[in-house]
Amino acid sequence: MKKHVKNNVYWVGKVDWELRKFHGEELSTHKGSTYNSYLIQEEKTVLIDTVWLPFAEEFVENLAGEIDLDKIDYIVINHGEIDHSGALPLLMKHIPDKPIYCTANAVKSLKGHYHQDWNFNVVKTGDRLDVGNGKELIFVEMPMLHWPDSMATYLTGDNILFSNDAFGQHLATEKLFNDEIDQCDLFYEAMKYYANILTPFSAILRKKLQEIAALNLPIEIIATSHGALWRENPLQIVEKYAQWAQDYRENQITVIYSTMWNGTKILAEKIAEGIQLADPDVTVKVFNIAKTDENDLITEVFKSKTVVVGSSTMGNSVLHPVAGFIHLMKGLKFRGKKAAAFGCYGWSGESVRIINELMKDAGFEIVAEGLRAQWNPDAEAQKAAVEYGKKIAMA
Ligand code: FEO
Repeated sequence: MKKHVKNNVYWVGKVDWELRKFHGEELSTHKGSTYNSYLIQEEKTVLIDTVWLPFAEEFVENLAGEIDLDKIDYIVINHGEIDHSGALPLLMKHIPDKPIYCTANAVKSLKGHYHQDWNFNVVKTGDRLDVGNGKELIFVEMPMLHWPDSMATYLTGDNILFSNDAFGQHLATEKLFNDEIDQCDLFYEAMKYYANILTPFSAILRKKLQEIAALNLPIEIIATSHGALWRENPLQIVEKYAQWAQDYRENQITVIYSTMWNGTKILAEKIAEGIQLADPDVTVKVFNIAKTDENDLITEVFKSKTVVVGSSTMGNSVLHPVAGFIHLMKGLKFRGKKAAAFGCYGWSGESVRIINELMKDAGFEIVAEGLRAQWNPDAEAQKAAVEYGKKIAMA
């Protein structure tokens, strides 16, 4: 069923309450998501984006219930990823000649996904498309935010920025707007989305935000492609993005580890105790990597100024959840964060050296030489861990 956005603009997307993993198994979505598609019914009828492939039939059926599909004049595809373009092949079976407006890179991704030679019309930043009644669409390329093909589309008159993935959240909601939903959910999911998807592109984002500001377009609604639309103070999420893109960190130190026989866990807790003793103001959190959702953990890393990483030594190396998580952090290209290592061992004890090497390679500044404890930490080793925590807090 369509929902009213503003004047002649409607939401015609899909709320996916069941979604728990996105990008295959890569990203947790505890609260589902939405695939937001929009219908503009001015003198010209425009469809902006579609929905994910499993919902293609439902989407086209619903759309055909709202309008005669032949009445669609233009289709705008802001981004070729399948969660937004998945219903396009089925829709195009009904209206095969309708023009599709997208970036040059989106033509590549759409052809790559669907192997169809549709009526593509390539647009660049600043290109305009008249939709009648004095309103126009203005296109803004958003390369690497988050794919090379991404763009945003702005509707003059109604002052709506259809931002696609940017400013979105994986959050299922029947309500459309930011002011209608739980604010904790909204901001947590917006931050999780940024931390897990957009962090590597922060430098590009900083420039793009300046470029969008220079266009001087009044923005009344930011109509994202996932989750709630920003209607109340819509620029608040732009301001958040500007903060998050500046090598974001809060006054938080996060201790993360994996452990075989709990020795490394004991060290983790004692290090946390030492950090808090030395700095009563800092927020300290402790997580067992193997028992924590990795995308929630990335969100904690995103908020941290220092990440303290621990592992038992096994097979002359680190435990695989630790190696895997450092690999994940490396891919997200965090900058301006510090790190330190710790771990228990029985025999050879290489884990701390390896964690230091991996964390340095992942872009973290190593602030201490590392703490090792052989066998189960006794009172003396636990005291050393508290002191190590104090040292990290002061670093
Ligand atoms: Fe929501 Fe990049 O797809």
